[in-house]
Amino acid sequence: MATTRNTNGTRKHRFLIWGGDGWVAGHLKALLESQGKETHTTTVRMEDREAVLRELDHIQPTHVLNAAGCTGRPNVDWCEDNKEATIRSNVVGTLNLADCCYLRGIHCTVFATGCIYQYDEAHPWDGPGFLETDPPNFAGSFYSMTKAHVEEIIKHYNNCLILRLRMPVSDDLHPRSFVTKITKYEYVVNIPNSNTILTDLLPASILLAEHGETGVYNFTNPGAISHNEVLSLFRDIVRPSFTWKNFSLEEQAKVIKAERSNCKLATDKLVAKLNEFGYEVPEIHEAYRRCFARMKAAGIQ
Ligand SMILES: NC(=O)c1ccc[n+]([C@@H]2O[C@H](COP(=O)([O-])OP(=O)(O)OC[C@H]3O[C@@H](n4cnc5c(N)ncnc54)[C@H](OP(=O)(O)O)[C@@H]3O)[C@@H](O)[C@H]2O)c1
Repeated sequence: MATTRNTNGTRKHRFLIWGGDGWVAGHLKALLESQGKETHTTTVRMEDREAVLRELDHIQPTHVLNAAGCTGRPNVDWCEDNKEATIRSNVVGTLNLADCCYLRGIHCTVFATGCIYQYDEAHPWDGPGFLETDPPNFAGSFYSMTKAHVEEIIKHYNNCLILRLRMPVSDDLHPRSFVTKITKYEYVVNIPNSNTILTDLLPASILLAEHGETGVYNFTNPGAISHNEVLSLFRDIVRPSFTWKNFSLEEQAKVIKAERSNCKLATDKLVAKLNEFGYEVPEIHEAYRRCFARMKAAGIQ
């Protein structure tokens, strides 16, 4: 595929999104296309080294956006019973794709997870939030364990930008969106968490990638919000008839196979970097208000 150049001779950016049929990948594609950027997608398996190198050499992207990963269906409990498949995607595959991009001189953005922490004495829910440099302290699910381990390795690649999403939320009621999930559960726990509102954060991922940023970033809106706060805003703005029932963490443990991470991430590093580019990410309560207002305006009930 021929490369194209800007008038000053530099290569025009060409994005290749990995995991092309996935939920986050679809949002990235729509966003890049709306920005008029050259965008390609692929479903090549990340662990297939020959096929990955072939795809990179064929498309010749300047930037790979890795939104591929084994997330389990219907949820991460699946990973507990399918450990080899989970390792092949989340460890072998993610590392292989990062390495192939490194060999070809391509910037690689990894859509990773912040579900590698849980509140502890030094990090209570109203405390400071986990830093990018804090060692993971949650391995209660096999999914999170694979993600935490691979991050420890790929963060040393000088071409990799690692963005830790948590409980992503879209402006619709897509089944993968955190809001959709908690509105459909029979019972929900009520714990503050950091969340990623995709409308706010995905444009930031493109900004960071285009500026060649690397390293690890907690990739959520600033602050933390509890399940009940989210559902109250959803009821007040989107669906006045909505009601829900709470249960405790102990009761939740009886209906899930793997434990779930609950934590607040510190966003100071992300906010400071995005300030350099004149980009602001709203605090999570305000972000939810805006998200639900967009939903309502779109006629979603
Ligand atoms: N959604 C969340 O709650 C959440 C939270 C934090 C982080 N993340 C991370 O963000 C990324 C995108 O998530 P998502 O919600 O968009 O997930 P998704 O809808 O399940 O999409 C993931 C895509 O990756 C593909 N994939 C899996 N293993 C692959 C491999 N080895 N090689 C190539 N493609 C592979 C899947 O294809 P197949 O179905 O064909 O395998 C699927 O199309 C994932 O890495 C996920 O761990 C998600």
